[in-house]
Amino acid sequence: MLKKKILLGVTGSIAAYKTADLIRQLRQNDYFVQVIMTKSAKEFITPLTLQALSGNPVLENMWDPSEGNGMAHINLSRNTDLILIAPSSANFIAKLANGNADDLLSNLCLARKCPLLVAPAMNVEMYDNQATQRNINIIKKDGVLISGPESGEHACGDHGMGRFINFETLILDVEKSMVKNLFKGKNILISSGATFEKIDEARVITNLSSGLMGLNLAKAAYKFGAEVTVIKGKSNYNFPSCIKTIEADNHSQMQKIVNTKIVMSDIYISAAAISDYKPKPVYGKIKKKSKITIDLLKTEDILGTIGLKNKKTFLVGFAAESEDLEKNAKKKLVEKRLDMIVGNLIKESMGKTSSKVAIIDKSGEIKLQVGTKTNLSLMILEHIFKIYSKEKENELIN
Ligand SMILES: Cc1cc2nc3c(=O)[nH]c(=O)nc-3n(C[C@H](O)[C@H](O)[C@H](O)COP(=O)(O)O)c2cc1C
Repeated sequence: MLKKKILLGVTGSIAAYKTADLIRQLRQNDYFVQVIMTKSAKEFITPLTLQALSGNPVLENMWDPSEGNGMAHINLSRNTDLILIAPSSANFIAKLANGNADDLLSNLCLARKCPLLVAPAMNVEMYDNQATQRNINIIKKDGVLISGPESGEHACGDHGMGRFINFETLILDVEKSMVKNLFKGKNILISSGATFEKIDEARVITNLSSGLMGLNLAKAAYKFGAEVTVIKGKSNYNFPSCIKTIEADNHSQMQKIVNTKIVMSDIYISAAAISDYKPKPVYGKIKKKSKITIDLLKTEDILGTIGLKNKKTFLVGFAAESEDLEKNAKKKLVEKRLDMIVGNLIKESMGKTSSKVAIIDKSGEIKLQVGTKTNLSLMILEHIFKIYSKEKENELIN
């Protein structure tokens, strides 16, 4: 497959030194990176460093006669998938807001035919300044996409908004800028990871869910333009800052938070491995004996209970099965009154980075897919969009 091409504009922000690492990460994510620097950017990091890391000579000069038709300011943006300005100075945002074109980078932005993503990075006062805020609003209205900034400590010692966005979020925003905004304005709630149920003061019952599927579903939903909230059980993974997370360690916390959050959600994907049983509460720590008996109480099926009452939220379940994947998953879809279910075989999925899934919807259509959890999550979200849009269309007709 042809690599996606990014024109990476680097401007005169102190955060420009971080672009060296950004280029490395973009290339690891299989992007072709062509760097263009402003004159000020070269005061912060050398073109040679960025050339070495991107594998391409860095461009700056609009008057470079080596371009065949002498039109570097237009040619470069023609066969590119995205222009990314990272970091973007306040000055460069002001130029974009006014349509100024006095160097190669600002000319390329004005002459572009592709999306433009801007990652502001500046001191908190510069960022809060009315002029900067006004300029950011203007470029947003003009269709420019913005990534960050975030809050934290600045190079000058100040604290507040204006820090260059973390690269995990920035790279998600890069991917988002190149795919369809399927879930624009939609709230997607995802539960993810495992739960702990206390046996006594020190011991717990848990399961082997790693939370990786939930993480990838959340990233895929974010990429497709949704507002994503994750109710996060025990997981080995951290979520990027662009995804809201609420911690829930056990069944009863999960249930409480799901029931509160589902009211505001258009779609709920229940991907957490929530304990079906919990031990009877015991005071203190059980003393060591040759044998102990733990009484387990059945917990309420959170998704099943919601399915019986819910009419508004599109419900997607996950079914972890040891055998008869399609048959068992289909049974759960019907019993819990879900809109869709994703069945997976435990030994091929739990704690692994890839999986084999059966995506089943109410019409009975079954899609069998094998792949990494990253790719499967994208496919699952695309299928959710297909079925969800159909249901909404039918609601309008009826
Ligand atoms: C040490 C130093 C650090 C600077 N850091 C920033 C910054 O983080 N963000 C910003 O918007 N401007 C910063 N500036 C100011 C810009 O470099 C200045 O506005 C410049 O004209 C921007 O040029 P450009 O937009 O063409 O790259 C800094 C200036 C200096 C001297």
